[in-house]
Amino acid sequence: MTVKSPARIEAERLCKRFPAVPTMTLAKKLAKSHKKTIETARSLLRIIRGNTGDKARRQTTGKDSYRPPQPAGFTPEMPKSLAEPWLPFDLGNGHRTVILSDIHLPYHSPIALQATVKYFKKLKPDNVLINGDLMDWYGLSRYQKDPSKVDFNAEIDSGSEFLAWMRSVFPNCRIIYKFGNHDERWKIWVFNNAPLLEKLPKKMRIIAYECLVGLMEHVLECKNHGIETVKDQRPVMLGHLPVLHGHESGKAGLTSSVNAARGLFLKTLSTMLASHGHRTSQHSETDWRHKQTSTWSTGCLCELNPPYWRMGNRWNWGAAFVDVDSVGGFNVENFRIGPNGEIWK
Ligand SMILES: [Fe+2]
Ligand SMILES: [Fe+2]
Repeated sequence: MTVKSPARIEAERLCKRFPAVPTMTLAKKLAKSHKKTIETARSLLRIIRGNTGDKARRQTTGKDSYRPPQPAGFTPEMPKSLAEPWLPFDLGNGHRTVILSDIHLPYHSPIALQATVKYFKKLKPDNVLINGDLMDWYGLSRYQKDPSKVDFNAEIDSGSEFLAWMRSVFPNCRIIYKFGNHDERWKIWVFNNAPLLEKLPKKMRIIAYECLVGLMEHVLECKNHGIETVKDQRPVMLGHLPVLHGHESGKAGLTSSVNAARGLFLKTLSTMLASHGHRTSQHSETDWRHKQTSTWSTGCLCELNPPYWRMGNRWNWGAAFVDVDSVGGFNVENFRIGPNGEIWK
């Protein structure tokens, strides 16, 4: 058995670890770490890479360390990026879109929801956008839970029944369900509770995670009801207006500096509409060229005094609709809903 010198072991490691890096670059590193001349180190590396003639090439072809000879001055390529494209969900121009959000099924407010849907029906919309927190997923919360309230089946039934109801009320509309932070609880729960999947080979692991995460849409029967879903925190574009769920607006989510709309402006410095704040507000700023930037926060459609925040949350019921013209210009109507279902514009 031939015993390899430390320099040879290091040279083989360098060739495997940096296959695209020029031999001279590796030779300088090897010469420094093993007190060799650069030429000696380079010769060693060329032998390992099979660059010293046909015989050496034949002996090294097929091995990890083989590298075809490169022309002088060759520079390696930039490493491949694993980043995936992240694009908005674009609903285009020339439509009326109604927006309802923060329903938190099965802890919704029947009064607020009935009033909203009745009003929306009169508006004859093209699209219905459920802008996050359709589900509460109380049972999947990371916060301390009241065991008597955890009823996973009831949550699933409530979600599926709601989507069936939406489809029957708006039979010809495009219905889009954008995920909010509560809807994302399902995915987070899967990631936290399926550590064994990490041991699967990569391809199987991806499929397994996709199946488990996609199970939520399956149990809610989104496909059966013809409901499109928007995940991965992608904004929905209504013409030139981006619409998002507030937890996506920055690192700490939506803050309420004076009000939620101003908080949204301070986070994004651009025109947009967000849910999640559970409070109706609007904020506008004008710059020195008199260009206007406006932000809107929509109200919620859930119970206003949940057990974890009985008093002082200052939430209100509300929803919105947006008219988009043929070139992407838009008009937002952000309204509140009174205690008896009155629509307050
Ligand atoms: Fe919410
Ligand atoms: Fe939210």
